[in-house]
Amino acid sequence: MAVSLAACTATTTTHQHRCTQVSVMRANGADGVLWLPVQESMGESNIRILADNQQLELVRVRLAKDSIDYYVPYELNRWGDRDLVLEIRTWLPDTARREAMVCWDAITTNSTLAGQFNARRAAETDRYRLRYHHSPAFGWMNDPNGMFYDEATGVWHLYYQHNPYGAMWGNMHWAHSTSRDLLHWEHQPIAIRPTALGTIFSGSAVIDRNNTSGFGENALVAIFTVEGESQKQAIGYSLDGGLSFTQYAGNPVLSDTIADFRDPKVFWDEQTQRWVMVLACQQEMRFYASDNLKDWTYLSRFGEGYGCHDGVWECPDLIKVQGDNSQFAIHDSQCTKESKWVLLCNINPGGPFGGSATQYFVGDWNGKEFTIHNAQCTNSKWLDYGMDHYATVTYHNAPEDRVVAQGWMSNWLYANDLPTGLYRSQNTITRDLSLYIDDKGEYRVAVKPSPENDALCGETVEQPTEACVIDVQMDNGQRTKDNGQMLITLSNDKGEKVVMTLDVRKKTFSMDRRHSGDCSFSKHFAAVTTTPLFVERPSYKVRLFIDRCSIEAFDSEGAWAMTNLVFPSEPYNHLEVQGGTATIYNSKI
Ligand code: FRU
Repeated sequence: MAVSLAACTATTTTHQHRCTQVSVMRANGADGVLWLPVQESMGESNIRILADNQQLELVRVRLAKDSIDYYVPYELNRWGDRDLVLEIRTWLPDTARREAMVCWDAITTNSTLAGQFNARRAAETDRYRLRYHHSPAFGWMNDPNGMFYDEATGVWHLYYQHNPYGAMWGNMHWAHSTSRDLLHWEHQPIAIRPTALGTIFSGSAVIDRNNTSGFGENALVAIFTVEGESQKQAIGYSLDGGLSFTQYAGNPVLSDTIADFRDPKVFWDEQTQRWVMVLACQQEMRFYASDNLKDWTYLSRFGEGYGCHDGVWECPDLIKVQGDNSQFAIHDSQCTKESKWVLLCNINPGGPFGGSATQYFVGDWNGKEFTIHNAQCTNSKWLDYGMDHYATVTYHNAPEDRVVAQGWMSNWLYANDLPTGLYRSQNTITRDLSLYIDDKGEYRVAVKPSPENDALCGETVEQPTEACVIDVQMDNGQRTKDNGQMLITLSNDKGEKVVMTLDVRKKTFSMDRRHSGDCSFSKHFAAVTTTPLFVERPSYKVRLFIDRCSIEAFDSEGAWAMTNLVFPSEPYNHLEVQGGTATIYNSKI
């Protein structure tokens, strides 16, 4: 079925030479799309795209050696009608093996052929594709980036770390999706592409209402890390509502000599009437200020002596979080009218169950420095006690002063190995954050599914479906029983199961996915995750969001959240609850 490049194109795209480590091909922008065959277990080949003796771009693709997993499209037509030279350096050192790579006869401009190949592969693997969560159409995704709400159009914008040339990490771009309800996502064209400064790592976006940057009134300004010879901060602006960006000619806007210097999150500081950037720098967060988003001055740093330091600190956010009086009605002491500043601090590795997780600190921000509320409390607080919740940051400009957060639903321990085929990774449902006081008198962040998620709940059904929402209410009196446990078991006809236990005596909720289905792709995947309950109540209620390969569990009042992926060979179609009763809503999506 492989069609050689020369055979399938009427134009000048031909192999010139493939005997040395470097192969050269010629193509023309008018050839449209070049489909590159990928074998994920192979090393990356470097493909330099040249025109008029200048390098236009360098992309890295795991070109197939023995067999093809799927094809990825390279859009030659982005370069207009120009004559292009593609210089391909494979990773194989010896000529004979290089010569024998299956990719040479399989690289094609025949979209139908590649499309059919991919469609067959997707049919085999897409059973895990989430129905109401955001995931990329194809290729790789990690951190959510630059999220903002546009009140003029009512559209939520989500950018994300993306590799368009394979379903594993690499070639970082900012891809883009939009949604009106935070449940249905539309894929938009790629928003920000690598330049000679580097690939595009994580960052944020702000609406520049007063044109402080001079890019134009209400310009959307993205602030991100470029990863080249070193990590530097760069900016780009959009005058078409976030669809396309022009990268600022004066980039980079902030550089340093330290190696891990990334993931700028910028907000408008009302106190000082200027922009503030929080930046992850190895194992601390640094703060910078600017009047115009271009010139940044160092303010202060936070980190040493606080929280978990077992990994690199990444993807920060600094947000003002408000007490929500509607919560914890049973124990008024747990409600607060106050607001506090919360520093989100993603860390990898070092999470409570290995790998990636989101820790946070509650404190105060005085326009220059972040100080932790209770300096005695040096323990980490985690925004989610599962294994698949990372790189969580909040939406800029969310309506009604809401603090809307979204995380990457995976873990660096195994993200590249997930058994999902042509795409990898998914984002959590969005969550609204607020403030509460736990039984120890500590401020904590309450994490609740955003109200938009209520729209998922369709008709009630007897048994779980592959996409559903489940409310489980602990029976009255269960607290006083001997074991004081509520056991929730989701299972399928293959005997695969996930067991969740709310233990009143131990004051914990745990989720055991050791027998949940396919755990074979990583030794780290079979795990039990546990969270303290944080507040004692006469009874407990848990809400579960199930979507094919994900389970997100929330305390009804937001005292804790837990997110874990699962890969059952068939959907869980049976629910058993001991010590409680369940209502199952079939998902409308
Ligand atoms: C976090 C992270 C960021 C970085 C990005 C690169 O998952 O490592 O620190 O900007 O991913 O893709």
